[in-house]
Amino acid sequence: LLFYLFIQHLIISSSYTSLYKKSSTNKNPAPDVAAEVGRYEDVAKRIIELAVFGAAQNRSYRRLADFTDTIGNRVSGSQNLEMAIKYMYNAMKQDGLDVHLEPVKIPHWVRGKESAEMIKPRTKSLAMLGLGSSVGTPPEGVEAEVLVVQSFEELKRRASEATGRIVVFNQPFTNYPETVAYRGFGASEAAKVGAVATLIRSVTPFSINSPHTGWQTYEEGVKRIPTACITVEDAELMWRLAQNKQKIVVRLVMGAQTLPDADSFNTVAEIRGWQHPEQVVLLSGHLDSWDVGQGAMDDGGGAMISWEALSLIKDLGLRPRRTLRAVLWTGEEQGGVGGQQYFNLHKENISNFDLVMESDLGTFTPMGLQFLGSDAARKVMEEVIKLLAPINVTKLETDAEGTDIFLWMQAGVPGASLHVADSRYFWFHHSEGDTMTVQDPHDMDLCSALWAVVAYVVADLEDMLPRRP
Ligand SMILES: *[C@@H]1O[C@H](CO)[C@@H](O)[C@H](O)[C@H]1NC(C)=O
Ligand SMILES: *[C@@H]1O[C@H](CO)[C@@H](O)[C@H](O)[C@H]1NC(C)=O
Ligand SMILES: *[C@@H]1O[C@H](CO)[C@@H](O)[C@H](O)[C@H]1NC(C)=O
Repeated sequence: LLFYLFIQHLIISSSYTSLYKKSSTNKNPAPDVAAEVGRYEDVAKRIIELAVFGAAQNRSYRRLADFTDTIGNRVSGSQNLEMAIKYMYNAMKQDGLDVHLEPVKIPHWVRGKESAEMIKPRTKSLAMLGLGSSVGTPPEGVEAEVLVVQSFEELKRRASEATGRIVVFNQPFTNYPETVAYRGFGASEAAKVGAVATLIRSVTPFSINSPHTGWQTYEEGVKRIPTACITVEDAELMWRLAQNKQKIVVRLVMGAQTLPDADSFNTVAEIRGWQHPEQVVLLSGHLDSWDVGQGAMDDGGGAMISWEALSLIKDLGLRPRRTLRAVLWTGEEQGGVGGQQYFNLHKENISNFDLVMESDLGTFTPMGLQFLGSDAARKVMEEVIKLLAPINVTKLETDAEGTDIFLWMQAGVPGASLHVADSRYFWFHHSEGDTMTVQDPHDMDLCSALWAVVAYVVADLEDMLPRRP
């Protein structure tokens, strides 16, 4: 999950949803949707039984463990990511699915050797991680006095103090979309007022001295300065020292560089529809991760339940009217690169995309399905989600999200995302803490069951989900 979420959120929650509201009032009510969807009660029970209590119990967890324990993390451009794609291609093929790869050029940023140290008022090493796309420092590093601010607004007010300084952002965590703006744009904002580097307080509500990396973006025409994240603890420490008028000096050394774009692939597995093979229900997660931890939560889990959903349907000998397509995206963390290229390549067939789904906020205990679509489509989905009653997840929420499905949703294709009990998600996000230890097999079974039931039933209904006219 990267930071463009907050831009999506603005777009979707303002213009986009109101468009749907206006356009859907003249829709005919669908003829007995409840009865049609209700006929899937038995098949939904069979999927749930297999996933949660039957032979497939713990399978998506075991698959995720095998995958992340073998490959490790998978940052864009790395050999690990290449290995991961080969691994998943082979694994899904062996599982009997129709698998192919679609080429994508992705960014190749490497962090190199890096460190940060507070030199004054005392010596203390600072746990840090360079931010994706950051430039490096000269080999000897950047050593400068620190200016600590709590907000962009404070930086503006104190612009005259920023020249030649390392700006430390100690913004409090409110919510991810809001707070991540500091990671995304802190470097350019500080460079505009003459800073030589920035250290951003990690975007997390909870910390045991853990730095949390992520992508950042330089503004066109603004000097590119090195930028890294530091821990909540160290940001607060420097803030307190600054409040006491202590002079703080930090040395930052970063070997980061951006190499030429690398070759990569979106990994696509399918169960072809028997009646309308050209029509698609797409379910997805991203295969790339950051270069720390194991990328188990972000987003190995989302990728695995998308595969698992197809496995469950196949194991039950089911084949829907439309094609079920699991896409494991590449380059998500670098700006949704794989998702964007996929959209551009396939948008000529947009009228055949029935529903796009992405899971990228963890695979903890499922709470409901987030859905974005016309009122008429929502009526259908409200019936579909009732089929999840055996696992107690029957809530249809608003505002689907997902970096890789966003463009489809913006273009009017109904979208869905998994809402899980994600209160711990940002504790581990983009840090060394994102490991298998965060995952729970039963939770993953529940997520897989939900994902499979929703995808299968929508792909098998008589009609595609109604869109805005
Ligand atoms: C699934 O995992 C749970 C918890 O670790 C364990 O109790 C259960 O026996 C496992 N089931 C199978 C079929 O491996
Ligand atoms: C669009 O759909 C047609 C018909 O199914 C198919 O032949 C074609 O390959 C599709 N184009 C892309 C870019 O997927
Ligand atoms: C659903 O809720 C009921 C009642 O609280 C509970 O007995 C049951 O175990 C739950 N099912 C699952 C799969 O969590």
